[in-house]
Amino acid sequence: MENFHDLLIKRRSIRKFTEENLSPDDVTTILQAALLSPAGKSKNPWQFVVVEDKEVLERLSYAKEHGAALVKGAALAIVVLAEPMVSDTWVEDASIASTLIQLQCEDLGLGSCWVHIRNRFTEAGQDAQEAVRTILDIPYTMEVLSIIAIGHKSDERKPHDIDKLQWEKVHIGKW
Ligand SMILES: Cc1cc2nc3c(=O)[nH]c(=O)nc-3n(C[C@H](O)[C@H](O)[C@H](O)COP(=O)(O)O)c2cc1C
Repeated sequence: MENFHDLLIKRRSIRKFTEENLSPDDVTTILQAALLSPAGKSKNPWQFVVVEDKEVLERLSYAKEHGAALVKGAALAIVVLAEPMVSDTWVEDASIASTLIQLQCEDLGLGSCWVHIRNRFTEAGQDAQEAVRTILDIPYTMEVLSIIAIGHKSDERKPHDIDKLQWEKVHIGKW
């Protein structure tokens, strides 16, 4: 594990991947990170669908009009779901899990990108969640928050610039 602060600076959204598959050990480590996510009242309303099949990845890449095409080139995608009946913090819980998946990927030297699904639509105007539900046979009790596309980075991106942080968004004591 590298220094956590350096990891945060280095992590960028990666949208281009090599053809190389992920190792089973890496996939296990990434899924452990997902399952280690904290959740409100420890209700753990999330579930994860792991997709490696190229044809299914391609179908998922059309699940919304903009910003999903990159899923097609990923080695693997984790579709992050949650069940609102289990917890009213499901959006937060599934978002934390999505983030931890991405940070674990970076720690393993892998690239990842969050592809947002909730409140998004396909090119034909269909709800993106419905599109993903149909492709993956997801029950109606589950909401689809995101698809985290993962793979070996085909290009390195510049790390964040610590001198360009938006400090004006930090308010000390009161607004
Ligand atoms: C909630 C959320 C939704 C996002 N949705 C998409 C998406 O649908 N497609 C995409 O290519 N990137 C998506 N991203 C990635 C952002 O565009 C990216 O995190 C942002 O531009 C900052 O860049 P960085 O991740 O390299 O720091 C999403 C990120 C977040 C946190």
